[in-house]
Amino acid sequence: MSDVMQSIRFTNQTLANRFALAPMTRTSAEPDGAPNEAMADHYEAYAKGGFGLLITEGTYTDGGASQGYANQPGIINDAHIDGWRTIVDRVHAAGSTIFAQLMHAGSQFQANHYTDQPIAPSAVKPKGVPLGIYGDQTEWKTPKSMTEEDIEFAIRGFVQSALNAKTAGFDGIELHGANGYLLHQFLSTYYNQRDDRYGGSLENRLRVVVDVIKAVRQAVGNDFTLGIRLSQVTVTDPDYQFPEGEVGFRQIAEAVRDAGADFVHTTDGDVRRANFIDGNKTLADVVAEVDNLELIINGGIDEINLQDCAADFPQALLAIGKKALANPDFVQRLKDGKEIVDLDFAMLKPKATITNELAWRANQVV
Ligand SMILES: Cc1cc2nc3c(=O)[nH]c(=O)nc-3n(C[C@H](O)[C@H](O)[C@H](O)COP(=O)(O)O)c2cc1C
Repeated sequence: MSDVMQSIRFTNQTLANRFALAPMTRTSAEPDGAPNEAMADHYEAYAKGGFGLLITEGTYTDGGASQGYANQPGIINDAHIDGWRTIVDRVHAAGSTIFAQLMHAGSQFQANHYTDQPIAPSAVKPKGVPLGIYGDQTEWKTPKSMTEEDIEFAIRGFVQSALNAKTAGFDGIELHGANGYLLHQFLSTYYNQRDDRYGGSLENRLRVVVDVIKAVRQAVGNDFTLGIRLSQVTVTDPDYQFPEGEVGFRQIAEAVRDAGADFVHTTDGDVRRANFIDGNKTLADVVAEVDNLELIINGGIDEINLQDCAADFPQALLAIGKKALANPDFVQRLKDGKEIVDLDFAMLKPKATITNELAWRANQVV
């Protein structure tokens, strides 16, 4: 256990250990997107529980169509910055490092404080139905296909929110390029059916992602940690695969590095699953082979397999999602040899809010 518990250099940061809290949406901000005291308590618990790094829930980036869920936090104005600063300060005081996850919903759009009209690379709805734990479960709306102006507006939103994250005291940012949200939609041949310079070839599908990273890097400077989360699967489609397979994913990893990303955070249902249309590598295997790019791995890491995962990727951080929700003190429990429990999904019902979690926890104490 000692190795994973040792302090580690990650990008230009020194982290207390190799454990990261995976980003998890809690739909618990104020209706205008301002982070609040309940969120501060929530994040502080993971810092006190021993996680070296916390990655926030997906946080929206502009006052247009970037917000996807009611009560999702934003990082676009002074009230948002002030709310996040309180959270960042409390996390730092407890000894952890914290990155903001910046997210544009694209067509995975269920509620938005500013507009009723989702936008996306093409007028393609996600598969399935909206996520009940984040709001109602009626029908997806058909998004508007983004114009060049819409794309430029979205990029400016990422840039300004990255600057806002820096102002709030965050140690870095992670762009959400996974799970079927906007940046992933541009990479995906299901969502992206454009025939202009943003669609078709992988090079074209990468253009928005590369432009966002370049613009953010230029704005925040070289010392601010910047990374991107990448997946094949989406929240409504566990089977999506990039048609370019392993070679294409390596091209994506190299392109984001060359644009200025310090790290890639891979996520899959199971971190050890080889799931490209070709070959037998995992997402993490491919990124680990790319020089000058650091790695966070995620997907099904638990108290049983974590040593194997850590040994397979000796420089990587291990991001923990559901097991962390169930055990905010996951890392401390490992150190103490205490029991780690599974997530009871009742904690996330009827919605994945902190209020419902607290009510669930109160019911556990007889
Ligand atoms: C309630 C909940 C909310 C989530 N919200 C986000 C999110 O905001 N951003 C993101 O990139 N992933 C999100 N995820 C995915 C997790 O970060 C993680 O990838 C997933 O749970 C698999 O990791 P695990 O097996 O350790 O749970 C969420 C997962 C859960 C359970």
